[in-house]
Amino acid sequence: MANVAVIGAQWGDEGKGKVVDWLASRADLVVRFQGGHNAGHTLVVGDQTYKLSLLPSGLVRGKLGIIGNGVVIDPEALLSEIARVRAQGLNVSPETLRIADNATLILPLHPAIDRAREASRGDSKIGTTGRGIGPAYEDKVARRAIRVADLAEPETLSAKLDELLLHHNTLLAGLGAPVFEKQALLDRLLELAPLVLPYAEPVWERLDDARRAGKRILFEGAQAVMLDVDHGTYPFVTSSNTVAATAASGSGMGPASVGFVLGIAKAYTTRVGSGPFPTELLDATGRLLGERGHEFGTVTGRPRRCGWFDATLVRQAVKVGGVQGLALTKLDVLDGLPELNICTGYRIGGEIFRRLPASPRAQAAAEPVYETIEGWTDSTRGARSWADLPAQAIKYVRRIEELVEAPVTLVSTSPERDDTILVRDPFEG
Ligand code: IMP
Repeated sequence: MANVAVIGAQWGDEGKGKVVDWLASRADLVVRFQGGHNAGHTLVVGDQTYKLSLLPSGLVRGKLGIIGNGVVIDPEALLSEIARVRAQGLNVSPETLRIADNATLILPLHPAIDRAREASRGDSKIGTTGRGIGPAYEDKVARRAIRVADLAEPETLSAKLDELLLHHNTLLAGLGAPVFEKQALLDRLLELAPLVLPYAEPVWERLDDARRAGKRILFEGAQAVMLDVDHGTYPFVTSSNTVAATAASGSGMGPASVGFVLGIAKAYTTRVGSGPFPTELLDATGRLLGERGHEFGTVTGRPRRCGWFDATLVRQAVKVGGVQGLALTKLDVLDGLPELNICTGYRIGGEIFRRLPASPRAQAAAEPVYETIEGWTDSTRGARSWADLPAQAIKYVRRIEELVEAPVTLVSTSPERDDTILVRDPFEG
């Protein structure tokens, strides 16, 4: 039985929630493998709207949720999200949610550093979510992070806090921000420990058992390939690897377990936060896309920047992310536009590129080269088969397929779960 990994193929917010929810209903386990509560997935089920940041989406469908070792976990955020969705009637308990005991924790000093550093960057700020994601991953790589299993060992916590505070208080003081006191942090961690530890286990063992038993595993990516710390628009990226390969290392499985990789892309492009965006539209069309697409960040509420579909960018995301099929979302937002532009390359310093170069200067200078396609007047909203789509909309999708060099295996035509054109079932490989 094939597993499926879902990743974003642009800069995030591609509408993963709906696709993941649909796939979760057909999976046995749903695994988060990177990122933290910087992610935001909105799931509409019946008359309930669930806003999930850290919890795997499968919980909404009664499926076992796993938070893998590659995720950074803010225990306060975790517990308040659990309380919030429980109040909406979801069953979240140590029977339905398992957390890797070797996952890294986010402490209150991480968002403090995140924000203080952003403030000190001024105009060159990254536009982070301010949730401490970057500083927590830095601690993990620097080998000083507090991990879930440490919550069971007060002496380990105490020693690790000494090391952490030596580092972070020096930095905070240098940035002119308030420093942290060890005892208060230790006391709080000891209070949180009995609330978090019942969820903790070596999840790799459970995942290995599931794999052997032929269970269907859905790996739920957060953020997107162009925010990947290696392959994205560095330094305007998040601090984890968001490509599909991370589904293996971020959960404790081998690469062969990842299965079919489904990339999600909007039929246009959006981005929150700073950084290069060659096809950004600062005109009325950009505003129209934002209004029609309800383009406001799920986590921070910030308006998203909007622009034309960038096939050059998505092609790159397909290659480095390992995408085997593309789910195209929000096609209906383009309804009625007389002409659509698709970016097929960049002009940088008089040269044409079919990829976004690694140099930040080149990325900032990249001018889109467009191919213009006639739009369609009929509505695509709610379409459930190709026959429901105007001929021009089909042409648009087919052209995207050619340019990004990946088949479109799913088209989403409204926020409703059933308003989907399914070309190929990802679980069938
Ligand atoms: P961080 O992940 O909070 O460090 O933010 C780094 C960059 O990633 C910023 O540009 C954020 O806006 C962006 N980002 C982080 N999480 C998401 C997400 O779930 N969707 C879209 N952008 C995100």
